[in-house]
Order: sequence, then structure tokens, then C-alpha cells
Amino acid sequence: MNRAPNPHAAKDEVLEEGLRPSRLTDYIGQDEVTGRLQVYLEAARRRHQALDHVLLYGPPGLGKTTLSQIIARELGAEIRVTSGPAIERQGDLAGLLTNLVAGQVLFIDEIHRLNRSVEELLYAAMEDFALDLVIDRGPAARSIRMPLPNFTLVGATTRAGLLTAPLLTRFGIQERLEFYKAADLARILERSARILGLRADGEALIEIARRSRGNPRIANRLLRRVGDYAVVSGDESLGLARARTALASLGVDDLGLDSLDRAYLTSLVEKFGGGPVGVETLAAALSEERDTLEEIVEPFLLQQGFIERTPRGRVATASSRAHLDSPSLRRTEPRTLFSR
Ligand code: ADE
Repeated sequence: MNRAPNPHAAKDEVLEEGLRPSRLTDYIGQDEVTGRLQVYLEAARRRHQALDHVLLYGPPGLGKTTLSQIIARELGAEIRVTSGPAIERQGDLAGLLTNLVAGQVLFIDEIHRLNRSVEELLYAAMEDFALDLVIDRGPAARSIRMPLPNFTLVGATTRAGLLTAPLLTRFGIQERLEFYKAADLARILERSARILGLRADGEALIEIARRSRGNPRIANRLLRRVGDYAVVSGDESLGLARARTALASLGVDDLGLDSLDRAYLTSLVEKFGGGPVGVETLAAALSEERDTLEEIVEPFLLQQGFIERTPRGRVATASSRAHLDSPSLRRTEPRTLFSR
């Protein structure tokens, strides 16, 4: 279960760097989450205390890393960044924790991938700002407690369901990031186009937003690629017609599904008679990692009602059959934007 994350997602994350907002006021979408965070941040500032530990969860690309950086910036604190799989031994975590300065933010990405012994060390660190180290072995073994500076742990995960109860309950703030509304993605793209120096029409941005599966990372990636088509065409302006042509060339259909999404649905419907079929079987049929399907492909298909998860496996719904039957690069008008 604990395999490497999708390599495409990691590459997108690097490209995303320059497009990330650094202040909460520049952050678009997730209004309820950012509204609550604003209050917690202000309260921590007024109390002159470290912010309570924060867990951010939800599908990849929705802004967990961005928000963690914003949290640190809004607290005027430095951030130390690591990830679950990078902390292999208790000593690795002890090193990180003892080097923290009071008020700092420690960001642990993919926190569901921490191993058990490291996780256990985190309990006292989070709750009591203490490091419990066991010295010696056998009958002479004893534990010593070292004080740690007050810090804020920000954990991010695509799989909150895999966190153990003791870890989960130590996060005083838990926020789930949702897929973005297309209107918010269009505003994000407007900002990104400005930063990238792309001359793009509002209609073109709306079209890209509408086909980005509620995900700003995908939206920004599509914007860059569609921008490439505009540059190569010799005329750098990006209008609706060019956006549509480029998106079709990129294999992004009218609902934003890409070739892997469609391969998933086609396999489920045609090879497995619409299911139920286990995710491992689907992954094998598609030569993909199970994690890629569970973390990247399925959340949006579930949210859109294309598939259902049942105890016996995945099942295709009538709408996925209807979508596969329709010309896959069907055109609809941008007014569908706000209905999502
Ligand atoms: N770029 C990526 N995500 C963003 C967001 N939520 N707000 C503004 N710019 C972004």
C-alpha cells in the first residue's frame, strides 16, 4: 500500500512552485477552510502561542503544501519540510525535533506513511512537547524525557483513513480540502496567466478551468500546455477556440477526464461488465499502481458519480456508461461552468 506517489504529480509540484500564493488573502477557493484558519491563526498570534497542530487531508493537488507554507508565513515562522517516508528511524525524527526553534512549523507530507516506531515518538512530541528516548537495552533500559520547544506540526495526507486514532486525535485542527468550483479555478488561472505572462481570454481560462477536474494543479498544468500550443502557433494570444483544440490534442475530454480516467471507466465497463471488481484487479488490467487509482483517479470519478465503491468492489454507474457512449470530446458551452 505504501508505494511511491505518482511521479507525474511530483513533477507538477515542482512546476507549481512559482504559482503558489504565499498569503491567505491571495488564496482562492476553499473559503470555509481558509476562513477557519484565519481565526485560528489570529487567536494564536494574540495569545503569543504556537498554533495547534494541523492536519490537512484530501486528494493530491488541492493545496495542502501551499496551505502549510501559508500557515508558517502567516505565523511569521520558519517551516521545516519533510515527509513520512523520509523519516525512517526514530533518530531521524529526534534530529528534526531537537533542531526546531520555538514557534516553528514542521511540515510532514504523506504523514500516513510514517512507520509505527517513528509515529509513537511523535505522540509525546505533539502532546507534551517532549521527546521520550529509550536508552540502554534489556533490564537496564529506561526512558528519559527531553523537553522540546513549542512547535506546530502540519501533517498532510491523501489518506486520512489510514492514520491511527492516537495520531489523528493529536491534531487539534483537521481540515479536509475539497475539489474546487470551476469558477474558483478560473480565478486561479487568471492569476497564473498573469504570472506566466500569457495573454489569455476569460473564455479560454473558463474552458480550461471547467476541464480541470476541480484541481488547481491540473488547471495550472493544462494552462502551461495550452500556452505551449499558443506559442507554437506563432500567435501568443490564447482564445477559446485554441484552448479547445489544444485540450482535445492533450486528450482531455469535455468533462475534463484524461486518457487514464477513460481507460479506467472503459476497463470497468467493458472488461468487467461494469463491476463489481476489486481495485487490485483494475490496477493490474491498466498496468497502474493501485495507489494511483485510489488517490488520483478515483476520488474525482466518485465525486462526479461515475463510479461507486461497494464492499465487493468498484461499480460503474449509468452516467459513466453514458459518458463513454457520448463522443468523448463533445463540446458544451462555458455556461455549464457554474453548475459543477
Ligand atoms: N495556485 C494554486 N492553488 C491556488 C489557490 N488556491 N489560490 C491561488 N493560487 C493558486
